[in-house]
Amino acid sequence: MYILGIETSCDDTCAAVLYDDKILSNVISSQINLHQEWGGVVPDIAKRAHQERIDPVVNTALKNAKKTIDDIDLIAVTRGPGLGIALAVGFNYAKTLAKKHNIKLVAVNHVEGHLLSVFLKNSKGLPKFTPIFPCLGLTVSGGHTKIVLIEDVGDYHIVGETLDDAAGEALDKSAKLLGLGYPGGPIIERVAKGGDCKFLILPNPLPEKVNFNLSFSGLKTSFYYQIKNWSVDKKLKHLSDLAASFQNAVFNHLERKFSLIIDEYKPLSILASGGVLANSLLRSRVRKLAKTKSLPLYLPYSKKLNTDNAAMIALAGFHQFKRSGPSDINNIDIAPRFEL
Ligand code: KG4
Ligand code: ZN
Repeated sequence: MYILGIETSCDDTCAAVLYDDKILSNVISSQINLHQEWGGVVPDIAKRAHQERIDPVVNTALKNAKKTIDDIDLIAVTRGPGLGIALAVGFNYAKTLAKKHNIKLVAVNHVEGHLLSVFLKNSKGLPKFTPIFPCLGLTVSGGHTKIVLIEDVGDYHIVGETLDDAAGEALDKSAKLLGLGYPGGPIIERVAKGGDCKFLILPNPLPEKVNFNLSFSGLKTSFYYQIKNWSVDKKLKHLSDLAASFQNAVFNHLERKFSLIIDEYKPLSILASGGVLANSLLRSRVRKLAKTKSLPLYLPYSKKLNTDNAAMIALAGFHQFKRSGPSDINNIDIAPRFEL
């Protein structure tokens, strides 16, 4: 089946073409340069940019896959969670396209897309593996931080999630406090290299062993108060140490909770995905954890599949269609708070 995926939940305009689970094309038009000067995503700017870019991005995805719209069997589009006015651009575009060309449509959960991104294959069908379930998934981005027990594709149980900020959001906010750019996660990764991660002592959030939830706002507040009265010179002198300390506190918390839940639920495999997993240090920490627990680990085969993309939406849509058929195109709308 040829699937066209469309994703506009935040600040990337994305389209991809898949043949079943194989990526034939994956186009991402990033709006980072438009939002950078504001230090975060500005909804109106995102909406306008999506409107301008969606048509060329979809056409490029079809062209790169050497397909036309007439070859497409299914359109998969992000329904939520995400920014309402951004979601609406992709959603309405997908509905119009599906109606015009009489193509079936599935409305997909963005978080499910991130979870399933580890099962995407390249055009040659690689990497080859058959996932083992139940699988415990850690998915961490700028909008969500969840630990999900996956009994099978389509059968999800959230067993831990952040009570406040997402981990990526915390990294973005700490980068802002340090006067670094947006989005903060990748900049913090770069600046933290060579820094002393024990330079600043940050709290251990929700330390109780029975609590499987996560929390990042306390880390951010402690970070803020500890450096609040520092001179610009002092901050600049210790920039690497500060970035490394904050990043380390976020990753320690993620790893501790993930490890605790693995011990409790005893899955047969684990996976990790989402924008924050684009971080090499976090990926290597998760690899080490999998080794310690003697569990197979699934990560997206390319770093580009960690951050927002439409290939993961197309794959989630493909599985959803096999499970329960198409969505009712005339009675479905975006859901900015769509639960998994
Ligand atoms: O999955 P994603 O593209 O969008 C959402 O669904 O939110 O994730 C974006 C988040 C941002 O918070 C960004 O700072 C973070 O992922 N991120 C990173 C890295 N690359 C992106 N965090 C840490 N290290 C990175 N290399
Ligand atoms: Zn995302």
